[in-house]
Parts: sequence; structure tokens; C-alpha cells
Amino acid sequence: MMGSQENKLGLRKINKIIFRLMRMHTAAFIFTGICAILSIICAVIAPILLGDAINIVIEGSARIIDHSGTIDFPKLYYTLFIIGTLYFIGNVFSYLYEYYTSKVTTDILYTLRERIITKILSLPMSSIDEKEKGSVISLFSNEMDFLREAFVSSFSKLTSSLITVIFTLVVMLTINISMTGVIILVVLLTLVVILILQRFSKRYFNKQIAVQTTATEQIEEIFSGQEVIRSLNYEEQALEEFIGNVGEWNNQEWKFKFISATNYPIMDLSSNLGYVLVAIIGGILVIQGAMSVGRILTFIEYLKNFNTPLKDVTKLLPQLQAGMVAADRIFTFLEMEEEENPSGKELKSFNDEIKFENVSFGYTEDKKIIDNFNLTVKKGEKISIIGETGSGKTTLIKLLMRLYDIDSGEITIDGVNINEYDKHSLRSFMGMVLQESWLFSDTIEENIRYGNLDASDDEIITASKQANTDDFIRKFPDGYKTLLNEAGDSLSQGQRQLLTIARAIISQKEILVLDEATSNVDTRTELLIQQSLDKLMENKTSFIIAHRLSTIRNADKIIVLGRGGVIEQGNHEELLAKKGYYYNTLNSQNENS
Ligand SMILES: Nc1ncnc2c1ncn2[C@@H]1O[C@H](COP(=O)(O)OP(=O)(O)OP(=O)(O)O)[C@@H](O)[C@H]1O
Ligand SMILES: [Mg+2]
Repeated sequence: MMGSQENKLGLRKINKIIFRLMRMHTAAFIFTGICAILSIICAVIAPILLGDAINIVIEGSARIIDHSGTIDFPKLYYTLFIIGTLYFIGNVFSYLYEYYTSKVTTDILYTLRERIITKILSLPMSSIDEKEKGSVISLFSNEMDFLREAFVSSFSKLTSSLITVIFTLVVMLTINISMTGVIILVVLLTLVVILILQRFSKRYFNKQIAVQTTATEQIEEIFSGQEVIRSLNYEEQALEEFIGNVGEWNNQEWKFKFISATNYPIMDLSSNLGYVLVAIIGGILVIQGAMSVGRILTFIEYLKNFNTPLKDVTKLLPQLQAGMVAADRIFTFLEMEEEENPSGKELKSFNDEIKFENVSFGYTEDKKIIDNFNLTVKKGEKISIIGETGSGKTTLIKLLMRLYDIDSGEITIDGVNINEYDKHSLRSFMGMVLQESWLFSDTIEENIRYGNLDASDDEIITASKQANTDDFIRKFPDGYKTLLNEAGDSLSQGQRQLLTIARAIISQKEILVLDEATSNVDTRTELLIQQSLDKLMENKTSFIIAHRLSTIRNADKIIVLGRGGVIEQGNHEELLAKKGYYYNTLNSQNENS
């Protein structure tokens, strides 16, 4: 589970993360950096000139006092003019910098979202099964928010602060080495203390993000499981569990923020200590005549420039840390191995037979679902797969479509292993109506069209008539333009399944897969669908998975699956003669109906 994922963030990893983020929009990043440097250079030079201006006034005043002259006004005005210009240019660059930072941030978040969704669509089914939905949704909401926070309010300030600190430090060193040395010593000591505290706060943040992910999962479950929760009167327990988790979230977040909040006062204390030390050392230097008062004032101005970004950064450390952890989780997800699809070989035609040879498969290593399965299907044959629930019927179909890869054995089409084909071209030969009818949040018309994007409106209506959906669709005020929500809630289970049948009809595929296609409709509709399916299956190779045996009477081959593999196989008459599972089930179903 991602929630409990260890987040070890060494300096190397942080560098890698920042580098990967920057690489997404290199040019904009460089431009942002240039703007930052230029605006900072202006901010650094101005105080030097300010010190000069003060010295001009002090020297001039001294001359006035001993009547030897006056203040050099032209020089003073000139210096002040340069200072003003520098501040103005600095502001323009800092505006550009802010503008490009927000642009880079939104661009990066956009790119990441796009990559995440692409990733979801290209992961192998087996990795999707392992992922919890909530943890992926959390990437889009929680992690993205942390990253944005880190970017907008922290990352940008961090870069500019770092540049300011370095520039200022260089200038401070040129003014006085020993005073600067003392300041560096104080800051280093403070950083050690803060880094130790940071270790604690990170521990709480990791716990926070783990419960936050769980809570996201829960809210997703509670929302989509409303009907079940209400009908089971499970509201209170659901609420209790959720509140418990949110409480824990609150608890961890509070601890994280509390420890992080101590950073600022510590840094503040350290910077005040710096001023005191500079005042003492500076006083001694002035008395010794080694330094002018103007220079001391300039130094203090720089010290302020040096301390402010440091204090800013310590205030931002928690956000930065959160952003790094979030980015790490996003990149870990993006680094997951994708579904293999190495060969570009196209499946162009299907002429002869599909063969399962000694096929074995399990979703997990320790539990085999399909064991040594053999089956030959000639082109045009109708194969029925029946058997108790959980025996692996749907699994067989998933293997044929290469949604999962088999552990041993071989599945071939016209003698060629299906692993040699491009997955998309393989799947493009198969039309399916699956157990869970899946509809998109789009119009009814478009939902049918997904079967064949080139289908005309007339073709859609024809297919819809064949699938017996035309009548009920026309009863909606918007007809074929009726918008479905993502779960297709406005339709009954049976109507949803009929729509997916219409989708399969329009897809005109050579191989058809019908998984419990008629399980959700009444007997009269079932008969109608049966007729249209029979028509659809003419000259097609089809796999029909069914519980109701009346629907598969005229299949060419019926496979009965049990927990241990194939129990019986043969056509209707052969199986009746065997008086086994098929015979018994058929009899009991006839009695019941
Ligand atoms: N994604 C999955 N991950 C792990 N195990 C799975 C997965 N899907 C199915 N299984 C397991 O594989 C076995 C066979 O499942 P399958 O869906 O093929 O059964 P089925 O014969 O189609 O059953 P039903 O008649 O209920 O549709 C079951 O025991 C099920 O628990
Ligand atoms: Mg099934």
C-alpha cells in the first residue's frame, strides 16, 4: 500500500526530484532563475550605495561643523538616483520572476497530472489490482496540493533566498571577514538544531500522509457505496471509522506542525544573537579606527538581508518537506513498470483456430486459478464456458485478451503465440460484453459509439434496435443525447447491460466475448437479446459465459469448469448423456423456472 510507503529522502534523492521537476520545463526554469538573479543583484548593490550616501552626508556634516565646506549634493543626488533606479529595475525583475514561477508551477502540475493518467492506463492489470483506488486519487488531490504549496510558497522563495544569502555573504566577507565568520558560526549551529528537529517532524508528516490517504480511500468508498451502507444501516459505523481516521490525521498533522513551528523562533533567536555580536565587534573596530560607522551600518543592513531569507526558509521548511515527500510519492508511482508490449507485430487476420495449450495461471503465485487448461476453438465456433462461481471463467477470457499474462503453457491464434502480437491489435479483434457493464459519463449515443468510433448515427440506431435498447432510449426526453453519469445510475442494471450489447454489436469484431451477458434482464428481454445475439454471432467465433444454461443449448462446445479445472466438455447432447454437472444443473434450472 502506498499509504505506508517508507519515505527515505536523502539529499541525493531530493536533488534527483528537483532535477526531474526542472527538466519538465527547462527553458522557463532558466528564465525564472535569470529574473531571480537580476532582481537580487539589484537588491544587493543598493545597500552598498546607501552606505556610500550616508558616508557622504556624515563627511559633509563634519565639514559643515568645522566650516571647511559642505555636503557634496550633486554626488549625493546622483547616488540616490542610482539607488532609486536599482530598486525600480529590481522590482520589474522580481515581478517577472513571480509571474514565471506561477507559470512554471501550473505547467509542471499539468504535466504531472497528464503523466499520472497516462501511467494508470498503461500499468499491467496485476499492478492495478494491487493499488488501492484511494491512493491514486490521493496523488491527484493531496500530493498535488502539497507539491503546489511547496512550489508556490516555498520552492521559489528558497531559490531566491539561497541566491540572496550567497550574494550577501560574499559582500559581507569583503566588508569584514571576522564579523562574517562569527555570523556563519552562529547560523551553522542553529541549522544543526533545526535539522535534528526536522527529523522528528518528518516522522509525523509521513504518518499524516498515510492516514490522509486512508481517509481519501474511505470517503471514496462511502460515497460510491451509499446504497449498501444505508440499506445495511451501516451509517454510524462508517462514520465512526471515518471520524477515527480523520482524528488520527488531525493528531499527526498537529504534531508535525507544532515541531515545525519551533524552527522560526529558534532562527529568530539566532539572528538576534548575530546583531548583538556584530554590535560588540563593530564597536571595538570603530574605537580602534579600523572601520567607519557607515561601513558598520552597511554591514548591519546586509546582516538583515542575510537573516530575512534564512528566517523565511526555516518557516517554509515544513511545506518544502511535505512537497518533497509528495513529489517522491508521485515519481514512485510514475516509475512503476508499465504493461509490456514489446512487439509491433500486428494481428491482421484470424482464419483457423484459437488454441489453449497446457495453460496455467494464478493472480498470486500461491493460488492457481487455471491449471493445465486445454481447448481448441475453430473459427466460427460457439464455445460456452459454464461452471460454479469463482471457477475461473472470466479469468480465461482475460487471459485470451492478455489483460494478464499466463504463467505457463501457450495461447495461440492460427498457430502463433498471442504474446508475439501487439496487444492493441490483438484486442481489436475482440468485442466484449462483460459482467460489469461499464459506461462512461457521456451521452447514450457516445457510449454505444465507443464500440466503433467511425459508426454513423444510423448505424448506432440500427445496433440499438438489435440490442433492444431503442425503445427505452427514446423514452428519455433527450433520447440518444441523454447524458449518463459515471456510474450510469439513471439506468437499470439490465438497461446498462443492453447498452453494452449494442456497443458490442456495433464493434463488428470477429471474436465475441459475452460474459453473463443476459444475467440482468427479464425472461422476455432475454429471449429478444438471444435472437439478436444469435444473429450477431453468425460467422463469428464466440465465447459465451453463462449461468442460465437455456441460453447455450446450441453451442458447438460446452466447457464445464470446476475448482480443479475442466470437469466436463462436449456439446449439449453429449453432456446430457454424461448425466454429470451439466445434466444436473440444467434439470434443477428447468424445475425452478
Ligand atoms: N483481480 C484478481 N485478483 C486476484 N484474484 C482474483 C482476481 N479476479 C478474480 N480472482 C479470483 O480468481 C478466481 C476466479 O475468478 P473468475 O472471475 O475468473 O471467476 P468466474 O468463474 O468468472 O466466477 P463468476 O461466475 O462468479 O463470474 C476467484 O477465486 C477470484 O477470487
Ligand atoms: Mg465471471
